[in-house]
Amino acid sequence: MKFDAPATNNPIDQLKVVGKPLDRVDGPLKVTGTAAYAHDRYDSIPNQAYGYVLGSAIAKGKIKPMNVSAAKAAAGVLGVVTAENAGKLGKGDYNTAKLLGGPEVDHYHQAIAIVVAETFEQARAAAQLIQVEYTKADGSYDLHAAMATAIRPEKIFGGEADSSAGDFDKGFAAAPIKFDATYETPDQAHAMMEPHATIAAWHGDTLTLWTSNQMIDWSTGDIAKTLGIPKEKVRLSSPFIGGGFGGKLWIRADALMAALGARATGRPVKVALARPFMFNNTVHRPATVQRIRIGATQQGKITAIGHESWSGDLPGGGPEVAVMQTRLLYAGENRMTAMRLAVLDLPEANAMRAPGEAPGMMALEIAMDEMAEKLGLDPVEFRIMNDTQVDPENPSRPFSMRTFAECFKTGAEKFGWNNRNAKPATRRDGRWLLGMGVAAAFRNNLLMKSAARVRLDSRGTVTVETDMTDIGTGSYTIIAQTAAEMMGVTLDKVAVRLGDSTLPVSAGSGGQWGGACSTAGVYAACVKLREEVARALGLNHPDATFVDGELRVGNRRIPLAQAAAKKELVGEDQIEYSDVDKKYQQSTFGSHFVEVGVDAATGEVRIRRMLAVCSAGRILNPKTARSQVIGAMTMGVGAALMEELAVDKRAGFFVNHDLASYEVPVHADIPHQEVIFLDEVDPLATPMKAKGVGELGICGVAAAVANAIYNATGVRVRNYPITLDKYIKGLPEVA
Ligand code: MOS
Repeated sequence: MKFDAPATNNPIDQLKVVGKPLDRVDGPLKVTGTAAYAHDRYDSIPNQAYGYVLGSAIAKGKIKPMNVSAAKAAAGVLGVVTAENAGKLGKGDYNTAKLLGGPEVDHYHQAIAIVVAETFEQARAAAQLIQVEYTKADGSYDLHAAMATAIRPEKIFGGEADSSAGDFDKGFAAAPIKFDATYETPDQAHAMMEPHATIAAWHGDTLTLWTSNQMIDWSTGDIAKTLGIPKEKVRLSSPFIGGGFGGKLWIRADALMAALGARATGRPVKVALARPFMFNNTVHRPATVQRIRIGATQQGKITAIGHESWSGDLPGGGPEVAVMQTRLLYAGENRMTAMRLAVLDLPEANAMRAPGEAPGMMALEIAMDEMAEKLGLDPVEFRIMNDTQVDPENPSRPFSMRTFAECFKTGAEKFGWNNRNAKPATRRDGRWLLGMGVAAAFRNNLLMKSAARVRLDSRGTVTVETDMTDIGTGSYTIIAQTAAEMMGVTLDKVAVRLGDSTLPVSAGSGGQWGGACSTAGVYAACVKLREEVARALGLNHPDATFVDGELRVGNRRIPLAQAAAKKELVGEDQIEYSDVDKKYQQSTFGSHFVEVGVDAATGEVRIRRMLAVCSAGRILNPKTARSQVIGAMTMGVGAALMEELAVDKRAGFFVNHDLASYEVPVHADIPHQEVIFLDEVDPLATPMKAKGVGELGICGVAAAVANAIYNATGVRVRNYPITLDKYIKGLPEVA
């Protein structure tokens, strides 16, 4: 089905099942520990051996041929694979670094060997017996040092490295009020609960990978390309995923090394990357340096806005696209954005929840707060003043819908923004300095084609099959809701099968497109199945409706199951789009409000209240959507106050590679969180009239926290995380 907007009335609009805050259909499996995550499939795959991956101890250089004889002779060992005996390996489309290093080493903890043994302990012990001789080479590990030689990158997800409109230099120079500041965001780790894990098994020349992966089709292609085998010879299965955040958009070393180990030993091989390995072996969100300039009239109309960002990646990699939102968020006739890439020899930089906007908004939305103060304007008012209904770089392109100002008006009222004192460090609660902060949320809505197959059997059960993944987001549930609504059945009549490369290719889970696009694919398949049902019953009529398990035309009511009494019926289709996302800019919007208390003596910061107001079209399930947003808000608090990979600039690796030293928020750090979804639909998005929400929730949160800390203390911190050492000296004297 080709979606040619705007969406008209359709069966989804009944909202009998869709739009309801229903519990997750996979909830019981999760809470009883019976959801089969990759590493848990111990009983269904017989004769498993264990693989332990050895990582490089240097960041850059060469390895001499390794002596693996002691490891091979160790108890229980079945085989050792290194680059020397791995055979010819290619590289997939989505990995900048090779997943198996040697003789060249690209980054610290790059996999250089796998030891396969009968038990995990035997494999781990034997890995320590491998003798590796390194020849170190000089590497580049310091973003600031490498900025001078940064290049204008060619490879960018979603556009060009540079953009401009009007004449920024002239416009900025002429602006009566000018603001110019530079912000820094650190390297961050996805730190998902479930590590990268895979069980690999070969049956002849066919490889099966039970793994943890967000994008089944990309990854099936990538592993095939890397191993040099046809894509049809690879099967990927990933029905449950314990968090991805972008780190599992691609196959990583666990999958490749398990496949190589299994091929060498003739046994299914299970590999989980140990937690200390996750930080340097896999990918991370790269650090950024961002310069923002804003010029405005005395009254606060933006006339010039410029945003430059520098970030690093391995040779051949891409930049953090941190300026993207600045191209779209605020009005202003003179504009420039630019991204520069510093080549670094740190582990591969790549997508992490809301790549681009998440770190970009961390900078832009502090800058907006600073500019509002300079103008003597309320930061809510300043943002609303500079709202735009068209793409400001291409004014002939309207937004599909944009209720940005509404997010701020609703949020300000619900949060009690009036009680904020614009003058910092003026509100107290005993020893606590109190402050409120606000920031915009913004994330693009990307349309990806997505296919599904829907079957109806003689018991009236509807089964949906698609390779879509559920990374904890609620995909199973909203897909079941979509099929139930379309076929006019209750949720318990729907079964959903996901995450398998043998199923129709979906949009996958990435870039917050998964929810809206995969359900649109299921919608398309259900339209086909409805036709099949009508045809089987001889009731092909334009007024036919599917309600309460029946097909109804006029006075006639026929149970759905009857259509499939003799033969199962199948509908399969994919959603595709005309030029709807070219004609209209599709984005999601929001506002974040935060209140903090900062201990006037110790500088300890506690978040007291958080509110997010989101505009993302129809909300398919307010309960799972809310969970996405409160999770994202929590992650935003981590970005604001805690998360930072510490770079060893001599040895070239991330030092804090465990969850004791890479800090993320815990329950005690997070207050009650409120989420409001504006009641709306976006008919220019998909037939579901829904957009993504999973990444919108993190964008802007950290800046709202930063702005609240400023309002509480009067100290402006421009580099994240905002730890108390950065502002304690500036705290007002304790009376
Ligand atoms: Mo998202 S960072 O595209 O999983």
